[in-house]
This record gives sequence, structure tokens and C-alpha cells, in this order.
Amino acid sequence: MNQQLIEPVLELQDVSFRYPDGSVGLDRCSISIPRGTRVALLGANGAGKTTLFLHLNGILRPQSGTVLFGGVPLDYSRHGLHTLRSRIGLVFQNPDSQLFSASVREDVSFGPLNLGLDNETVRSRVEEALHAVGMTAYADKPVHNLSYGQKKRVCIAGVLAMRPKVLILDEPMAGLDVAMQVELTHILDQLHTEGMTIVIATHDMDFAYQWADSITVMVNGGCAANWDVESIPEALTELAAYGLGMPKVAELQRVLAIGRIWDDDISSARSHQALIKKLTVATASI
Ligand SMILES: Nc1ncnc2c1ncn2[C@@H]1O[C@H](COP(=O)(O)OP(=O)(O)O)[C@@H](O)[C@H]1O
Ligand SMILES: [Mg+2]
Repeated sequence: MNQQLIEPVLELQDVSFRYPDGSVGLDRCSISIPRGTRVALLGANGAGKTTLFLHLNGILRPQSGTVLFGGVPLDYSRHGLHTLRSRIGLVFQNPDSQLFSASVREDVSFGPLNLGLDNETVRSRVEEALHAVGMTAYADKPVHNLSYGQKKRVCIAGVLAMRPKVLILDEPMAGLDVAMQVELTHILDQLHTEGMTIVIATHDMDFAYQWADSITVMVNGGCAANWDVESIPEALTELAAYGLGMPKVAELQRVLAIGRIWDDDISSARSHQALIKKLTVATASI
């Protein structure tokens, strides 16, 4: 589906931001995040992904340009920000910068308590959020005893307990082992099925291609290009211009599409790169 046709839930219009030391965080950055979709933000270190996220939930304020939520410019009053942060949940890259309570339950309760909900509602939201991330059994554990991956899940639960419309995750897969990455992908799939808009910053094109509806690349504080995932296999030259490779699976499919090739030599390849090399040699003679 063409993402451009779906109404945007969040937008940056021509937003610029410099940090106090003069570093460029965002430079005339524009992005439109369609409601209910999964957006992957790719970009080198320092491209501005985290800065963009901090603008989406009002932690940073544009020095020029506008951030809109549901078509309305953000309200930076205390009340406005309070409301905004219950609607737009941001999961930081480092769980230790997000978790601060003694126990898991206490930490996940913080958001909904802060919304002024009654104890019974808070309790049921916390249970629901812990269940969603598979951390029910850890509710009474001290946060500092958890593994990195478990802390990450508690951070997500803390945000989910606010029942946000949009979930933003800054490099969520970084530091997770493969099994935990698969689990997190399932959690995100479930949330997407329930209608949540999800935005992720990542370095990993393979994950972005597998998971997202659209991919945006950030360069030097700006959103430089945007593709629906369906058009990624045709975007080889453009991707290369941004220093991005093809998703591995698309690269394989491209070579395999040249002909039906499979023999022992090819099946002996032990890495994706080796396989591509063998297939390329084999297909060149067709
Ligand atoms: N607190 C800060 N003070 C000064 N410069 C910063 C700060 N945070 C980020 N920057 C700079 O802003 C630019 C964008 O950084 P960031 O948004 O963290 O990029 P990314 O998340 O894509 O790696 C970089 O040049 C970075 O060095
Ligand atoms: Mg970052």
C-alpha cells in the first residue's frame, strides 16, 4: 500500500535543531509517519535519529520548523507535554537511562500512576503490559538484577502501560542476542496487529526490510530519502548512494531470479557473501 495515502499521525515539517555546542542535530528535517504503520529510520551514527525522536515526544523543541501530532502542532505547555508523552511512548536505547525504580512492577507503574489513574486501573495496566512483553514472572524482581534484554522489555512495558498511540524505539535490537531479537520482533508484530504506529531507529537493513512498511534514511540531520519496502529491491543505486546495501534476502533473490541454479558447490557456501559470490559466478555463464 502506498504509505503516502495514509493520514500521518506524526510529522516534522522543516525542523532544524542545534545543540548548545553548535552540533547540528536536525537540519531542515521533514518526515511524515502514517498512522498504524511500521517505520524504520536508518542512518549512520550521528545522522540525527535520536534527536528526531526527542523532537517527536517534545523532549527537544525545534529552533525552526514544526512538529505535528494528529495534524496539530505540539503544545509545549506542561499540560500539553504530559498528554503528549502518554500518547507517544519513547523507549531509549540504553535501558539504564530509562529505569529508575527498585522493582519491575514499580517501574512499569510509574507512567500510569503519573497519568492520575486509580490504583485498580494502574494494576491491571501493569499486568497487561508485563504480559505483553513476557515479563509477568519478573514483576517483583529488583530491576538491577535483570539482564540487558529483560531490562529492555521492562522499558517497553513501562511505555505500553501508558497505552500510547505511537511507540518509538531507539535502536531496540542493539545489545540483544538473536533469540531476544526474535522475541522482540514478535512483540512488535503483535502491537502492530493491534493498530499501534511503531517507529524504530536501526542500523540493520535486513531487520528493517523484514519488519517495516517503509524505510527512511537520515543523513546529516535530514530525512534524505524514503521508500515503501516493496520498492527497496528496485532501489539498488539509490541505496548505494546513501552507503546502504541491499537487504541480504533481496540480493539473493535478485541473483536467483537470473536462473534456477543449485549444485553442491553452491550449497557449500557458509556465509551469505560466499553464496552470493558462487551464485554470481554460476549465473554469469547462463
Ligand atoms: N547532547 C548533545 N550535545 C551535543 N551534540 C549532540 C548531543 N546529542 C547528539 N549530538 C550531536 O547531534 C548529532 C546527531 O546525533 P544523534 O541524534 O544522537 O544521532 P544518531 O542517533 O543518528 O546517532 C551528532 O552530530 C551528535 O554528535
Ligand atoms: Mg542514536
